[in-house]
Amino acid sequence: MALNLDAVGKKLGPVTKDYNWKDVVLYALGVGAGFSDLDYCYEKNLKVIPSFSIATIFEFLSLYAANSNINLAGILHGEQDLIFHQPIPIEGTLTTEGKISHMYDKGENKGALVIGESETRHSNGKKLFTSIITLFSRLDGGFGGEAAPKEKFEYPAREPDFEITETPSLDQPLLYRLSGDVFALHVDTEFAKMAGFEKPIMHGLCTYGYSCRALVHSLVPGEPEKVRRLKCRFSRTLFPGDPIKIQIWKTQANIAVWKTINAKTGETVINNGIFEFGDIPKNEIRFNDQVAVITGAGGGLGRIYALELAKRGAKVVVNDLGGSRDGSGTGSATPAEKVVEEIKSFGGEAVANYDNVASPEGGENIIKSALEAFGTVDILINNAGILRDKSFIKMEPENWQTVIDVHLTGAFNVSKPAFKVMREKGFGRIVMTTSAAGLYGNFGQTNYSSAKMGLIGLMNTLKLEGKKYNIKVNTVAPIAASRLTKDIMPPELFEKMKPEFVSPLVLFLCSSGCEANGNIYNAGMGFFNRVSVVTGSGTTIGDGDNPPAIEDVVDNYDAISSLNNGKVYFELNEQVGDAMNAFSAPAQTDTASDQKIASAAAIFEAMPNAFNAEAAKDVDVIFQYHISGDGGGDWNCVIKDGTCNINSGNHEKPTCTLKMADMDFVDMINGVLPSMQAYTSGKLKIEGDIMKSQLIEKLFKL
Ligand code: NAI
Repeated sequence: MALNLDAVGKKLGPVTKDYNWKDVVLYALGVGAGFSDLDYCYEKNLKVIPSFSIATIFEFLSLYAANSNINLAGILHGEQDLIFHQPIPIEGTLTTEGKISHMYDKGENKGALVIGESETRHSNGKKLFTSIITLFSRLDGGFGGEAAPKEKFEYPAREPDFEITETPSLDQPLLYRLSGDVFALHVDTEFAKMAGFEKPIMHGLCTYGYSCRALVHSLVPGEPEKVRRLKCRFSRTLFPGDPIKIQIWKTQANIAVWKTINAKTGETVINNGIFEFGDIPKNEIRFNDQVAVITGAGGGLGRIYALELAKRGAKVVVNDLGGSRDGSGTGSATPAEKVVEEIKSFGGEAVANYDNVASPEGGENIIKSALEAFGTVDILINNAGILRDKSFIKMEPENWQTVIDVHLTGAFNVSKPAFKVMREKGFGRIVMTTSAAGLYGNFGQTNYSSAKMGLIGLMNTLKLEGKKYNIKVNTVAPIAASRLTKDIMPPELFEKMKPEFVSPLVLFLCSSGCEANGNIYNAGMGFFNRVSVVTGSGTTIGDGDNPPAIEDVVDNYDAISSLNNGKVYFELNEQVGDAMNAFSAPAQTDTASDQKIASAAAIFEAMPNAFNAEAAKDVDVIFQYHISGDGGGDWNCVIKDGTCNINSGNHEKPTCTLKMADMDFVDMINGVLPSMQAYTSGKLKIEGDIMKSQLIEKLFKL
């Protein structure tokens, strides 16, 4: 028997479950609630213990086990993570869909991990919670699969902030099993003995429920609706009747780490606990199971990006070479290490990296750190930066080059290996960091402004190359208090410029729900706006055949310079297309639509009248058209000695052949679809002498 690797990614469910207040109360009693917790047990003002959620989707444990073909003799519920998107109502119908998201190999005789993820919606239409279950199989290791990501978890080195002792009754499993997990191990002594235990054991998820109650009681008393996440690892079995101690350390304003120990033996039964709490934001954005790389994250803005991403579930590579503000000196590991410690203190996952972004090896190593620690890269924030300000006249080549190397070449060095991983997995979010100095100019920063504007160019093309792989590339120009801006900004402003005012937008651009691609934003002090390269609608000068004179430019200067009716182009071809069609574009009059040609056949009929004999004087060419679709057909067009013959059907020796769908062809001729765009988007295919096809626009004025 071997793990069924094909099961990864396949949809499981939907599974629906109706529940009412009695199910909610039965669960509460099963996890030790009573008169002291009457809110959980009395239908008047009833509240739901959030861990009830897992009891409602218990079936998914079996679905993951059955579909992965895991060896049932060696299976354990290893970890449980519940992320809450909405408070749990006291009744309704739940619909859950899930999938096995990963299978990891811990090695021969070490076991394997099967990770199952599900989302549950309520009949009120809202997404209620996400569950991530890790099944540990002792007997399936060594199948040659991907190595399990390393997880490092540390508790603060101080006494817990809260400690709650509870003693589940000797009969507790008999009550808990009525909420769904009726496995004989928790009720049948003979079965328990066969499994190697002297008597039936507690359900791990029952102890989890006790822990949840204790966490709510300590951190959000009377407000279970404020539980946002409950994660843990099950480490030891517990017998009914043994007292437990839930130890809790509050590590951030809304995060605590916790563990549950057997108060009799001192053994830890639940480990690596994370509890997040507070008001649940509408449509909360999470980064669970995503890996983020942030360069220059040892301080300033990068540190806040790293902390915020980790708080929302991302695994983070904190890169920083720990250099001075101007990039001189040898650097120090301390800033990156400190940020990693901060992340771990609230139960987050992070590793430090000290490589220099300015070298290609540095870039490779940064991404290698992510792959080694966490197996992938989903998010990259190119943030590392230095300053070497000088007026242009005093700017030495070294100060020019070093700044370009860190900002622009640095982003190239790290993005390249990251892009490779993202392309393979079909997902990626990259954020570049530009500056108002680049976008608009700032005295004494020619080096910095050039590097920062170069990043816009890098984004503009990367956004196109990543588009079909769901890799979105955007850019932020922050304004924030940091050591870079300390002596540039007035002190009173400096106080108001916390990096926390920038990070929400940057994190949004990193999220999988973000569809923006190629956008630039200013962000700082709570103010956000979009920046763009705007192209004026422009004007034509002359006839397009003869170059205009300089004086003509002067005469038309206002129209050339005007940004009225400006356009934002997504790519080069749109601008080139407009330029190429500037003379042939239909006049923008009210009657223009009446003049449009409606079908391919009508176009070929109109062609002889649109023929420009003068332009065809020395031209000898045969165009073959294959127009597909209902209004399509084959036509050829023979041009020789200033004459034009249009025939239906195929020519034996066309100079070039153009293939297109009928409606695209109609749009192209009517000027709705620029020909260059039609060609680059694949709507127009040209075979034979491509260069000759460029004559068409000159030869016909349709
Ligand atoms: P910061 O100096 O606090 O952070 C930059 C970090 O990058 C430092 O920790 C530094 O050690 C690290 N770093 C420098 N060179 C590196 C290299 N070669 N390899 C790896 N790490 C390196 O400054 P701040 O303000 O947080 O800047 C972050 C980014 O935001 C920079 O790209 C900066 O140009 C940009 N920015 C900041 C503005 C602000 O108002 N703070 C304004 C506009 C842009």
